Amino acid sequence: MYKVKEVTNGIYYVGVNDRVKENFENFIPIPSGVSYNSYLIVDDKTVLVEGVEISFAEDLITSVKKLLDNRKLDYLVVNHMEPDHSGAIRVLCREFPDMKIIGNIRTIEMIEGYYGLGNQCIEVKDNESLSIGKKTLHFLLTPMLHWPETMMTYESATETLFSGDVFGAFGTLNGAVVDENMQIDRFWDGMERYYVNVMGKYGKPMQHALEKIIPYSIQHIAPTHGPVWKKYIPNVLLINKRLSAHEPLPGAVIVYDTMYSNTAQMAEIVAQGLSDAGESQILIHNTSRTDSSVILTDVFKYRTIIFGSPTYQGTLHPNIEVVLNKIAARGLANRVFSAFGSYTWASASVRILLDFASKMRWEIVGSVAVKQRITEKDYDALYELGLNSKK
Ligand code: FEO
Repeated sequence: MYKVKEVTNGIYYVGVNDRVKENFENFIPIPSGVSYNSYLIVDDKTVLVEGVEISFAEDLITSVKKLLDNRKLDYLVVNHMEPDHSGAIRVLCREFPDMKIIGNIRTIEMIEGYYGLGNQCIEVKDNESLSIGKKTLHFLLTPMLHWPETMMTYESATETLFSGDVFGAFGTLNGAVVDENMQIDRFWDGMERYYVNVMGKYGKPMQHALEKIIPYSIQHIAPTHGPVWKKYIPNVLLINKRLSAHEPLPGAVIVYDTMYSNTAQMAEIVAQGLSDAGESQILIHNTSRTDSSVILTDVFKYRTIIFGSPTYQGTLHPNIEVVLNKIAARGLANRVFSAFGSYTWASASVRILLDFASKMRWEIVGSVAVKQRITEKDYDALYELGLNSKK
């Protein structure tokens, strides 16, 4: 017999798992996959909240039809227009011809632009409500999370918040849907990496959204990716509050690249100094080996950031530039910074790294530039840089 998971009274999970895609948005690796969550509310009216990516349209339609049992689908609520959720809209409209699409004015403009379906939409404004029987939907506009049209939908009878991408996490749902029914630890990294890489530029809008939902009693948070949150709602709110406020945890991240291992050796010496100063949380990333989405996440998490780069063609190692560009794009604040680097005939990398930190308004501890081999004097300077970088 066909089974569909009920999240809570009259709200069903009809989402899908993507275990094929290697890179989210075609550049962020997702080794644990991702889910595209969609929910069907069955009441006097029937409402689908969010769609799925186009390649999963058939799976979604099969689940929805089983649940509808020959009833018609009245509404599709589009909290977010990005094609991982809206891709199946045209197919849904063909399959459910009576269905009206609910969105705000910016959503409707995008639905017309992407799919030519603006005339099938009903516009809702911020704080408007729609009764669908015993349940009522309240629409909360939360722009820039992470597109301009994004909104959340709160169902008051079940106290369920459909939060769009907000509170989402990488990682497929392996059977269970609600957090209390699964081993949840594997999702925390996925939540942090998702927030930092996908939403990380929009800290202020995230803080506004967190304030906006405070008055609502919430039993379930149903995002577009990852588990439905119930038991762990306080943890989820805390993680997103911390990351969006750029509040660091104690710890140090050393990020380096190297051509012939001089800069790599420098990283080891700095780490030893940090450790001897009492720092117990030290992460070291070689940008040639670790994906920048992982490095960026650690940089968002921890207080002390130390970059090392050889001078390469009069500037930084290209892999270091990639990470710095991502940090700058997200305007990360409130960090302590040190720099080191090696060069052969003209030093540039350390100066560029320090310029970067001053533009970010980070607290600068110090720097060491080494010409050619690491001398004993260089060794001492690097060790001391590590000692002083413990904050
Ligand atoms: Fe999951 Fe912003 O799309």
